[in-house]
Amino acid sequence: MHIGNIEFEQYPIFAAPMEDVSEPSFRYMCKKHGADLLYSEFAAADALVRSINQTMRKLIAFEYERPFAIQIFGNNAHTMAEAAKIVAEVKPDSIDINFGCPVKKIAGKGSGAGLLRDIPKMISIADAVVKAVNIPVTAKTRLGWDATDMPIVSVAEALQDVGIQALTIHGRTRAQMYTGEADWRLIGEVKRNPRMHIPIIGNGDIDSPQKAKMAFDTFGVDAVMIGRASIGAPWIFRDVKHFLRTGEILPPMNVRQQVEELKEYTLKSVEFKGLPGGVIHMRRQFAKAFKGLENFRDTRITLLTKSDLQETLDLLDCIAQRWG
Ligand SMILES: Cc1cc2nc3c(=O)[nH]c(=O)nc-3n(C[C@H](O)[C@H](O)[C@H](O)COP(=O)(O)O)c2cc1C
Repeated sequence: MHIGNIEFEQYPIFAAPMEDVSEPSFRYMCKKHGADLLYSEFAAADALVRSINQTMRKLIAFEYERPFAIQIFGNNAHTMAEAAKIVAEVKPDSIDINFGCPVKKIAGKGSGAGLLRDIPKMISIADAVVKAVNIPVTAKTRLGWDATDMPIVSVAEALQDVGIQALTIHGRTRAQMYTGEADWRLIGEVKRNPRMHIPIIGNGDIDSPQKAKMAFDTFGVDAVMIGRASIGAPWIFRDVKHFLRTGEILPPMNVRQQVEELKEYTLKSVEFKGLPGGVIHMRRQFAKAFKGLENFRDTRITLLTKSDLQETLDLLDCIAQRWG
């Protein structure tokens, strides 16, 4: 399948955009382990048009990251179009529009999933962004606002009609936030709709090679996007890709290998964010890493309080010695 002129191999697996997570060091790890498309954290259109430094930094990406998408959000078609032009200057492979963020400070202000309550506005934003740039524009959304309002089948058609070139669907409603289970049936329905021809990327709760395969086989999606399961374990892309390619489950990474991966990630994070920000960034990863280790609780708590680089690397080495 392809998005614009970006060609993907069979069974593409994308690394989800995640605020405060998907910065360059995380993306480096996802790419290393085989993620087929990387996304930036979402960038506020309002802040991009005002050149706010912190938001402009979200546009920084490296050549080796290609193909690479930058995601933007906002609630005004004109501002979104202007922001898209700014984004296009850094030459990402595609621009993704966030129509799915459920958090109050975004959706409550009519951006992200808030636009699921005003579909005509959502479509006019998509239309304006598509017209503003000459790189592929994609979108990411949810099934609908709540269980009584799940218009994703017609929303997908309307987005396609204004020139959106691929659509990611997270199989939850805004009301669900991140609770309950993702419902993939409607994602499958969008995919089966004979009017649809753009790639459909399925998203929600994929945390194993087998689930990724089921998403392709049962729901027919063109690509699968993985978010939370990659936090603390960006090597999930390696496991999933290997299974999809060969039908074999790779032996899980042992603790020593995980430590080496997380040390590399920590150093990359410091390279990009400096000290102590680069170490502090790792806390979100460490909170999820080393799942299932016995008697690990106190060590995890210690790991989560470190902000010194050498102390963090030393503690990771101790983990390898004790549990490896
Ligand atoms: C910490 C965090 C930050 C997120 N930030 C974004 C974001 O910036 N843009 C976006 O489209 N989705 C964002 N999401 C949603 C994910 O991209 C994804 O749709 C969701 O987590 C469901 O996929 P999963 O079950 O594989 O995690 C975020 C999710 C998490 C957990």
